[in-house]
Amino acid sequence: MAAAATLRGTGSYVPEQVITNRDLERIVDTSDEWIVSHTGMRERRIAGPEQATSDLATVAAQRALADADLTPADIDFVICTTITPDMAFPATACIVQANLGIKAPAFDLTNGCTGFIYGLTVADSFVRAGAYRNVLVISADCLTRITNWTDRSTCVLFGDAAGAAVVSPCEAGYGVLAHELGSLGELGDLLLIPAGGSRVRLTPRLLEQNMETMSMNGPELYKVAVRMVPELAERVVVQAGLQMSDVDLVVMHQANQRIMDAAARRLDLPNGRVYSIIEKYGNSSASTVPLALDLAYHEGRIKSGDHVLLLGFGAGFTLGGAVIRWTK
Ligand code: ACO
Repeated sequence: MAAAATLRGTGSYVPEQVITNRDLERIVDTSDEWIVSHTGMRERRIAGPEQATSDLATVAAQRALADADLTPADIDFVICTTITPDMAFPATACIVQANLGIKAPAFDLTNGCTGFIYGLTVADSFVRAGAYRNVLVISADCLTRITNWTDRSTCVLFGDAAGAAVVSPCEAGYGVLAHELGSLGELGDLLLIPAGGSRVRLTPRLLEQNMETMSMNGPELYKVAVRMVPELAERVVVQAGLQMSDVDLVVMHQANQRIMDAAARRLDLPNGRVYSIIEKYGNSSASTVPLALDLAYHEGRIKSGDHVLLLGFGAGFTLGGAVIRWTK
């Protein structure tokens, strides 16, 4: 049994090609002003035609391994959280595992934008139980492959990215102090892909209607997130034995700047306490949390001993939070 588990290393990757709001103005009836004022987004990244989710995931994982000062031979388990696997099967985690030459079990976890918090929770449990020592958790998505480019209410929001972390044993009192996961399946129709699964087979007619792309009730999701995420945040901070004022940085799923601002207000957090990268990268599903965490750490926004609160929400409807006492 390990006393505790922490993020020993983090890494991330974003594709080179940028789509700006001006680019989107040429595709749908929208404006830079509308997108910035309603979402806070100015740019997002798009994977190249030859890149699949596993390619983004592999680079992020290599960077997390280097940051952790570990090699593929040190990894005992691979978890990949994605809603855009390279293909229905095999699991994208197995593809990444093969790419990196890791000899360890691997599986995918599908939980939309909450994927990283779910993956981290599984990894933390594996490590603390002593079942596996170094667990690689990767969140990667090419959301632009499941975007309806004729729907202005969704296509301006999404981008492609990957983030990864190696979860390993650490001394007691550090690392993951608490986590909470939630799932409200009754709200599943707020965000889904209508066809292409075992319920509705994809036909040429449904393809013409873009039924293989994301369909979202944005305003309702907004209301649910603004209410439920701060409530969960308060619970998980108490579970960690802390008060909200002890939290040095909040790294939250980057769905909309207005959701982050509303959560900050509800939690009475001062300006800048909720880290945001939404302006440059948009919403890349579960990747937003590990990408933001990696960027925040390498910018010097997180130091050893800091308390970091991770928050996620997304398709399912699922939500999750974790408190980490950073040690590196
Ligand atoms: N450009 C210009 N106008 C637009 C655009 C656009 N891109 N999109 C919508 N509009 C229009 C609508 O047509 C509507 O016009 P109308 O009043 O004439 O009918 C008006 O703007 C307002 O539309 P709303 O949908 O009510 O806009 P809202 O202010 O709610 O913002 C948004 C929409 C940004 C999607 C917001 O609801 C949101 O961020 N919701 C949460 C999304 C989210 O959290 N997703 C999470 C998970 S994502 C994942 O898991 C992959």
